[in-house]
Amino acid sequence: MTSFRTGFSVVCLFVSSIAAAQTPKKTDQSIDSKVNALLAKMTLEEKIGQLNQYTSDRLATGPLSPNSSKYEDIRNGKVGSMLNVRGAKDTRMLQDMAMQSRLKIPLLFGLDVIHGYRVTFPIPLAEAASWDMNTVELSARVAGKEAAAAGQHWTFAPMVDISRDPRWGRVMEGAGEDTYLGSSIAAARVKGFQGKGLGNTDAVMACVKHFAAYGAAIAGRDYNTVDMSDRLLWEVYLPPFKAALDAGAATFMNSFNDLNGTPATGNAYLQRDILKGKWNFQGFVVSDWGSIREMIPHGFAKDGKDAARLALNAGSDMDMEGRCYIDNLAALVKEGKVSESLINDAVKRILRKKYEMGLFDDPYRFSDQKREDAVLNSAENKKAALEVAKKSIVLLKNESQLLPLNKNAGSIAVIGPLGKSSEDMKGFWSVTWDNDHLVSLYEGLDNKLKGIVKLSYAQGCDVTDTSKAGFAEAVNAARNADVVVMAVGEKFDMTGEAKSRANIHLPGVQEELIQAVKATGKPVVVLVMAGRPLIFNWTADHADAILYTWWLGSEAGNAIADVLFGDYNPAGKLPMSFPRAEGQIPVFYNHKNTGRPASSDHYEQYRSTYLDLPNSPRYSFGYGLSYTKFDMSDLKLDKSKVTQNDVIKVSFTLKNTGKSDGEEVVQLYLRDMVASVTRPVKELKDFQKVFLKAGESKTINFTITKEKLSFYDQKMNWIAEPGEFDLMIGNSSDHILLEQKFELVD
Ligand code: GLC
Repeated sequence: MTSFRTGFSVVCLFVSSIAAAQTPKKTDQSIDSKVNALLAKMTLEEKIGQLNQYTSDRLATGPLSPNSSKYEDIRNGKVGSMLNVRGAKDTRMLQDMAMQSRLKIPLLFGLDVIHGYRVTFPIPLAEAASWDMNTVELSARVAGKEAAAAGQHWTFAPMVDISRDPRWGRVMEGAGEDTYLGSSIAAARVKGFQGKGLGNTDAVMACVKHFAAYGAAIAGRDYNTVDMSDRLLWEVYLPPFKAALDAGAATFMNSFNDLNGTPATGNAYLQRDILKGKWNFQGFVVSDWGSIREMIPHGFAKDGKDAARLALNAGSDMDMEGRCYIDNLAALVKEGKVSESLINDAVKRILRKKYEMGLFDDPYRFSDQKREDAVLNSAENKKAALEVAKKSIVLLKNESQLLPLNKNAGSIAVIGPLGKSSEDMKGFWSVTWDNDHLVSLYEGLDNKLKGIVKLSYAQGCDVTDTSKAGFAEAVNAARNADVVVMAVGEKFDMTGEAKSRANIHLPGVQEELIQAVKATGKPVVVLVMAGRPLIFNWTADHADAILYTWWLGSEAGNAIADVLFGDYNPAGKLPMSFPRAEGQIPVFYNHKNTGRPASSDHYEQYRSTYLDLPNSPRYSFGYGLSYTKFDMSDLKLDKSKVTQNDVIKVSFTLKNTGKSDGEEVVQLYLRDMVASVTRPVKELKDFQKVFLKAGESKTINFTITKEKLSFYDQKMNWIAEPGEFDLMIGNSSDHILLEQKFELVD
């Protein structure tokens, strides 16, 4: 392992030193000297106070325990940060309390601004389907602006956990199954939240979470154990965290899970060796809610004092709602079990961020009610939410070219339990939404059609209830319409934290409702509104058209209406594989070939397959259709052999051969055919989203660098091995249109 650590640290230290220089900071020397001067004045209790974070009583995002001394603690300098305090008024009030403390050290206010503050954006997994980094950054930028105007200094986002398991409810918060896409999105979100840099009053600190590998919880059950090889950790789960750090992320949050037997919050390998060591992270690590104290039920800490010792020594700087630090660290220092120098390091990391945010200059600079009123819910922000929502929609099926609908459609029946729901459009992790500004599907259609097309509505059934009492009315509505638009899926709180599900079929009797409506013979468009990949095989086989619209936020209905009527040509691509059955999970595109691959034709039944299902998912990573067609041709590589310090220039022609303008996401995959470690059958190594007018062609260029050929060898050194590679270009991981081999030579 030594060689691995040495090998990796060389790469990382070099890269992170560049990253550190790129992190927009005020002159470090001036801040560091202020931090050191303040630290010198602080008592041990005041230092420990900076490591302590409480939640507001008005919003609990975890198991709440009574805390009668909260406000007294703030006045006595025993609290460094508060979370879940919303609005300029309330943050100002609490900051006032902090200003009564001896040293007047300002509080940091943090909140889960995951996909929007007042204007709600599509859930992160939906935004990932846009494959559009400008769109992802725009969403975070607007969320950051609104949050900063509402008193927030810090958002607990982006969540960058890779996950291959749709049973895990928190897939809705991330960017799906792929490391390359997930790393690109992680960086875009950090840039969005932090804007032009900390200290600007429209920027909030990002918080990269959950460090680390939380998305690999066994059986997709939230908070469950994670056990994986170093190779899988470094190759799949860590890169998005490094990408976020390199983008300048101010803070990290650790995770509830244990990793290979050590809870993340007490994991010095993760937090000291990797994050603060090899990666040279200068910010601070906040625990997840109570994750320090939860090392007791993990069976890793004997009691709160033991948990405090383990966590502080392992590099957890701030204790979110665990009260282990505030209750025990002073005694631990006196007993010599925790060194004050480690506490000083944690305090300095936190104070440095408070200086960078300008809070010592003006503790109230983010708590301005006039600015809050001016910035929140602006027309500009809602326009941005509409743009992001449109780009998040994925067209899964349109066989009979039913879509886009014609505005002379005559009459449309909107059927299904989510057809008139506005509340569910906000999705999970909306903590400050405005219910009056969530546009339902029905409202969106009404806004667009304004009486041109007769609209009717029938709920048909509930999301989870098994009653079919509403079927007759729904079937009747379908019979009396020219086209049916069905809105099915999940309620906003069915996917999210602590929302793992063993059964991810369309809930309740919704698929039977679709069957009953389809039996009328009317053309049926099915919209699936959900926070995760769901299973709906009958619908996939029989619906005329299917759009996966996720939970699209404030402008959901308007965005869907734009797509339904072709005012926007959908271009989304799935960021996760959709299983045919729960039994396939984990199913993901970048799997290994095995010694008896399903594709082989000479092993008869002795192949890595199921007896009852194909290996392939129902819908693959990277899949999504358009109202137009794209062709790829004329693939050229400027060389067929490349040396270690050279690159290959790749070009091909993309043509819009259809009748409407549109965007295509061209995806470049590589396969290392033979290596000293088995390699996936393909890995996404680059992509571009390209707009072409009908009939237009464009030459697309990619560059193959050594980095794209590299992997961790047997000794976990990051290297590229000579040999043959297969280059594949397509518009989905399972739809490769161009392919050519090349060789890496010494
Ligand atoms: C929650 C989540 C975390 C969130 C924190 C504060 O339990 O795990 O993602 O940021 O607590 O709400």
